[in-house]
Amino acid sequence: MVLLSSIISTLLVSSQLTNCFPQDAEVQESLQNILSEELEHSDDSIISSVALQLNQTLHDKDKCNGCVERLLIGKTLASTRPDLVSPAFMKWCLESKRLSKSNCMMNYDLSTIENSNHGGNFADMLIEIDPLSYSGQLYCYFKDSGSCSKPATPNVTISHMWPPKKPEHMVAPEPGMNGTFNVLHVSDLHIEMDYTVGSETNCTDTICCTPRSTSKLELNGTSPYNGYWNSFFNSSYNDDFSFNQGSLVNVFDNSSVWAPATSFGNYRCDPPEILINSTLNSVVNYADKQNITFDFSLFTGDMVDHDLSQRISLETTIKAEEYVLRDLKSRLRSTPVFPVLGNHDTFPYAELAPEKYSYSNKFTWNADLLSDIWEDYQWITPDEAQYSRKHYTGYAVETRLGLKVISLNSNTWYYKNSYCYLNASTPDNFGQFEFLINELIASEAKNQRVWITAHIPPATDGLPVPANIFAEIVERFSPYTIAGIFFGHTHLDQFEILYAGSGNDTKSIKDVINHAFIGPSITPWTGINPSWRYYEVDKTTFSVMNIHNFYTPLNETFVNHGQEPVWQHGYAARDAYNVSWPSTSPLNGTFWHMVAEQVRDSVAVRQLYENYAKRQSPYVANCHNSNDCNGDYCFLSTFTVDEYDKCMAALSK
Ligand SMILES: *[C@@H]1O[C@H](CO)[C@@H](O)[C@H](O)[C@H]1NC(C)=O
Ligand SMILES: *[C@@H]1O[C@H](CO)[C@@H](O)[C@H](O)[C@H]1NC(C)=O
Ligand SMILES: *[C@@H]1O[C@H](CO)[C@@H](O)[C@H](O)[C@H]1NC(C)=O
Ligand SMILES: *[C@@H]1O[C@H](CO)[C@@H](O)[C@H](O)[C@H]1NC(C)=O
Ligand SMILES: *[C@@H]1O[C@H](CO)[C@@H](O)[C@H](O)[C@H]1NC(C)=O
Ligand SMILES: *[C@@H]1O[C@H](CO)[C@@H](O)[C@H](O)[C@H]1NC(C)=O
Ligand SMILES: *[C@@H]1O[C@H](CO)[C@@H](O)[C@H](O)[C@H]1NC(C)=O
Ligand SMILES: *[C@@H]1O[C@H](CO)[C@@H](O)[C@H](O)[C@H]1NC(C)=O
Ligand SMILES: *[C@@H]1O[C@H](CO)[C@@H](O)[C@H](O)[C@H]1NC(C)=O
Ligand SMILES: *[C@@H]1O[C@H](CO)[C@@H](O)[C@H](O)[C@H]1NC(C)=O
Ligand SMILES: *[C@@H]1O[C@H](CO)[C@@H](O)[C@H](O)[C@H]1NC(C)=O
Ligand SMILES: *[C@@H]1O[C@H](CO)[C@@H](O)[C@H](O)[C@H]1NC(C)=O
Repeated sequence: MVLLSSIISTLLVSSQLTNCFPQDAEVQESLQNILSEELEHSDDSIISSVALQLNQTLHDKDKCNGCVERLLIGKTLASTRPDLVSPAFMKWCLESKRLSKSNCMMNYDLSTIENSNHGGNFADMLIEIDPLSYSGQLYCYFKDSGSCSKPATPNVTISHMWPPKKPEHMVAPEPGMNGTFNVLHVSDLHIEMDYTVGSETNCTDTICCTPRSTSKLELNGTSPYNGYWNSFFNSSYNDDFSFNQGSLVNVFDNSSVWAPATSFGNYRCDPPEILINSTLNSVVNYADKQNITFDFSLFTGDMVDHDLSQRISLETTIKAEEYVLRDLKSRLRSTPVFPVLGNHDTFPYAELAPEKYSYSNKFTWNADLLSDIWEDYQWITPDEAQYSRKHYTGYAVETRLGLKVISLNSNTWYYKNSYCYLNASTPDNFGQFEFLINELIASEAKNQRVWITAHIPPATDGLPVPANIFAEIVERFSPYTIAGIFFGHTHLDQFEILYAGSGNDTKSIKDVINHAFIGPSITPWTGINPSWRYYEVDKTTFSVMNIHNFYTPLNETFVNHGQEPVWQHGYAARDAYNVSWPSTSPLNGTFWHMVAEQVRDSVAVRQLYENYAKRQSPYVANCHNSNDCNGDYCFLSTFTVDEYDKCMAALSK
């Protein structure tokens, strides 16, 4: 039988960073203590002993060291008894009261088909991680309550993976004279399947409007909303899109509900299916009325709602995915949809293992299910679906008009994904960037233009190394090959610019490389109006010429006696800001650079941007009388985590 002691010595000796930790001797000593528990001891005694050792790490005055010690202890245990990692960390977490019970469960309890917990994935991570390396520090910064400060990002590059850029690819092609076509973009649907008319909207959880939602306030007498809010109908849409206003629900009969949920949704809730159907109907109705068609639709991810992880089950995850895709198909009919998966579209939440590790088996059910549906709906071909089944649901398609769309699963760079901490300093642990680069090289060789779509903008919730690598790739294949980049995730209508010379903070017009569009969400969570948009796209170059944004003021549906939401044209990007821009030029990075500078320099434009970002909701920040908009320029003018952090740090000086 392998002794824990031998494993630990190997671990400490093999680590090159050992010297960075002044208290290594202490670490080793405390670890040796566990080892006195030989493996033939009962599971309970091992669990108790490890929990005690974990608790000791809290006594370390250096919080970062304490966290690394926990990883070492966990790794030691995981190498021999991975099955005991979850019970030992649970025992420690609950007894030390370091986290709330629900957070202990989320982090360390085993996931069951009823609970989206991460204990199993945490144990997998421990087996592979080197706690004394960059990965360990990164984990302790992002996933252990900021125990370590952010470690310096290693300088990595993958420039050996591509040939030098040819002179003809140094400039973007100018739009042709052949007109435009339209592309729909929907994002972040987050269907709330247990949305209940009459349930509490002002609740104590992350999302409200479920049968379990309760208010902090004790209601004496009648609700203050009685006689004001009046849309409490159990309505639905029929398959032929017609509206079926249901019966009025007597919500004020329930004396424990303070602010009852109305028919079409609330700013503290994810959308009921009826709001998703209303949104998609508004897309179809608008297209019919204007006599326009959409060549295809982007869907930048997130089908599952924001409920607590204990309430997300495998079954509700699958059901949400199936319902959302069904609703899209039912409305968009023969228009192909090119989806990506969001951080919510997996189980357990956010987790995805690199293909080269056996843990990837845990996620094949999802890639199979979704690729089957996409193929069945004829959104992607059988060959593309086959690729997508095998490769984290990433794929590349060529559209009718010859544009390539490359779809990436961004959980590969998401900081909440446990498997992103395996070898976090290597540039392409998931093999996904190699796929992206090969597709870009192939397109460049035939002068084909490409759109890239993914859920999470790397500068927001990405990890530093993959964000830098992504930026390096975008720089290499801009401006000729990459004609557009599209994200979702933030729920806000935003954009972000990549500049050359990053690190110098030049951010001047000559340094603009490219930019990404961040599409608005359909979910109103939190405090935003549901929205969708479409792009007018140049037929020859696939450059975006204009964006039309639509929204519905959700609060109007609280008081409209159960009628359907009214959808309106919010703004067209080309006319929204006072930027003088030739009508023949695309809305490229240079255009957005000029917008970003106005946002930086003028509080009025900052307010305008915020109004658009949240679609004129009642919760738009007031830029004139608060500091809430101060970070806007940093967001718009950075493309990587490190750049964003640096910009924000300079701001607070
Ligand atoms: C864990 O450590 C804390 C101090 O950090 C101490 O108060 C507590 O009693 C310890 N718990 C156990 C179970 O040892
Ligand atoms: C990366 O390179 C820059 C510039 O050459 C240097 O300032 C920085 O310290 C390097 N970072 C690391 C982690 O080596
Ligand atoms: C315009 O379209 C025609 C026919 O579709 C094509 O032959 C021509 O090359 C296009 N012009 C440009 C500038 O791309
Ligand atoms: C009243 O609302 C509470 C939640 O606030 C819920 O638990 C209860 O079941 C509701 N009662 C009825 C009769 O619907
Ligand atoms: C929501 O509830 C909080 C207490 O939990 C209360 O302070 C607040 O006024 C309520 N808001 C509304 C809009 O009812
Ligand atoms: C309701 O009544 C209780 C007891 O009388 C009181 O403590 C509480 O503050 C009241 N709540 C509100 C919202 O008025
Ligand atoms: C709402 O309608 C559905 C189907 O029409 C029905 O199953 C459900 O019981 C109704 N709920 C209420 C509160 O009336
Ligand atoms: C939404 O639309 C789908 C597809 O037509 C339909 O099956 C579903 O019942 C609708 N749901 C609601 C609540 O309108
Ligand atoms: C709608 O557009 C198509 C081509 O885009 C055109 O052939 C048709 O005449 C238009 N219909 C109406 C009613 O304008
Ligand atoms: C800063 O800018 C100069 C000149 O544009 C460039 O040579 C240098 O590489 C840049 N530094 C970094 C860290 O990108
Ligand atoms: C954007 O388009 C303008 C006009 O076509 C061009 O001068 C500029 O270089 C382009 N910017 C980028 C970043 O490609
Ligand atoms: C909805 O919110 C908007 C923006 O705050 C406001 O102008 C409008 O009056 C509100 N409508 C209702 C019915 O409250």
